[in-house]
Amino acid sequence: MAGIPHDHYEPKSGFGKWLHSRLPVVSLLYGTLMIPTPKNLNWMWIWGIVLTFVLVMQIVTGIVLAMHYTPHVDMAFASIEHIMRDVNGGYMLRYLHMNGASLFFLAVYLHIFRGLYYGSYKAPREVTWIIGMIIYLLMMATGFLGYVLPWGQMSFWGATVITGFFGAIPGVGGAIQTWLLGGPAVDNATLNRFFSLHYLLPFVIMALVAVHIWAFHTTGNNNPTGVEVRRTSKAEAEKDTLPFWPYFVIKDLFALAVILVVFFAVVGFMPNYLGHPDNYIQANPLVTPVHIVPEWYFLPFYAILKAFTADVWAVQLVEFVTFGIVDSKLFGVLAMFGSIAIMAFAPWLDTSSVRSGRYRPKFKAWFGLLAIDFVVLMWAGSQPASEFMSWISLIGATYWFAYFIVVLPLLGVLEKPLLQPVTIEEDFKSHYANPAE
Ligand code: HEM
Repeated sequence: MAGIPHDHYEPKSGFGKWLHSRLPVVSLLYGTLMIPTPKNLNWMWIWGIVLTFVLVMQIVTGIVLAMHYTPHVDMAFASIEHIMRDVNGGYMLRYLHMNGASLFFLAVYLHIFRGLYYGSYKAPREVTWIIGMIIYLLMMATGFLGYVLPWGQMSFWGATVITGFFGAIPGVGGAIQTWLLGGPAVDNATLNRFFSLHYLLPFVIMALVAVHIWAFHTTGNNNPTGVEVRRTSKAEAEKDTLPFWPYFVIKDLFALAVILVVFFAVVGFMPNYLGHPDNYIQANPLVTPVHIVPEWYFLPFYAILKAFTADVWAVQLVEFVTFGIVDSKLFGVLAMFGSIAIMAFAPWLDTSSVRSGRYRPKFKAWFGLLAIDFVVLMWAGSQPASEFMSWISLIGATYWFAYFIVVLPLLGVLEKPLLQPVTIEEDFKSHYANPAE
């Protein structure tokens, strides 16, 4: 294994040499594919590849869907039915794209929580983390814009509610909202610009993914121990790593195959399970649905938005101090965006000298609570408003912020971490010792 020459590309053919001296693109690809990768990566390191696959699938299916879709309020809903009924394989294209969005978000949440547990956000990988956060924000924007396109009841009312957030900004909010919508309410101009942006953003995400990969190839991957690859000599580095090809490619492809079996079962047998029945009713500005809910992947943050009602004392205090500028609506919007933004500061809020949660017993418990909190918030976000749900959301939202602002900084000081392995090789051998050695 150690004999694999995974750090250098030598062009052999005449054409290879000719191209290499003009554009070393093969060398770049070779370097990317053969990159030394920590050999102890576990199954939580598959999500990046899954995300890359789904991004490409969304772009390909989206481009074909766009060939048959009409972004006009009188025709959008019917054009989707046309895709489902008349276009060859159209129902499959649409269900792949619809459920692909869910797989994308499932994978990104597991990818983010993996990073939070193994401390992948900590130095020197802050830039990888921040770019990831920007990608995540763009994914949310793309998901929201796409959901408006079928022009069903949830599309219309979801767009009305979400663009209404901007109206909460003091002074200029109304103007910004009108500017975003292209008029006083969600209408044809809105649908047109949302279609245009929904087509554009995945390509911006694609470019950012390239920078994301560039960033973690510069620092090298993190791994379950959080201990860095030894770089003092090539021989030592080779004891901690394996080339990405073929070892991790095969592992990732196996994981992708298993995930796709489940994905295709959902697409084939229960394609509307995660959707909302109201979106099969054409948008009607005169009929408000009884209960407006966003897609499942927005629910935790939707719960945080709804948690801060006017009778919460913190909201009343802020309203008083700001002379009513920050009212409960604006407070909710700030809390929702803040709950996402706070994650970007994790590299500086986590004060622990130990990177991986594996060697941090107290951290493990608090992190477990964060994961449960996320699921509880997701459930709370899906429920109709009630006093009980407001309490659950408020407790959930408070813990979300407390984890980042209080728990992470304090744990680094108060916790006594366990002993970490000195090298990745040591960890690898303790898990996969070869009895023949
Ligand atoms: C379209 C979305 C994304 C794609 C395609 C993507 C792709 C990847 C890939 C291929 C890797 C290396 C393998 C792996 O760790 O699984 C990776 C690592 C990483 N990603 Fe992402 N990512 C995306 C979104 C995000 C987001 C939203 C975050 C968090 C804010 C994030 C944070 C990280 C971090 C910190 C690493 C480094 C982990 C390590 O060094 O082991 N990524 N990403």
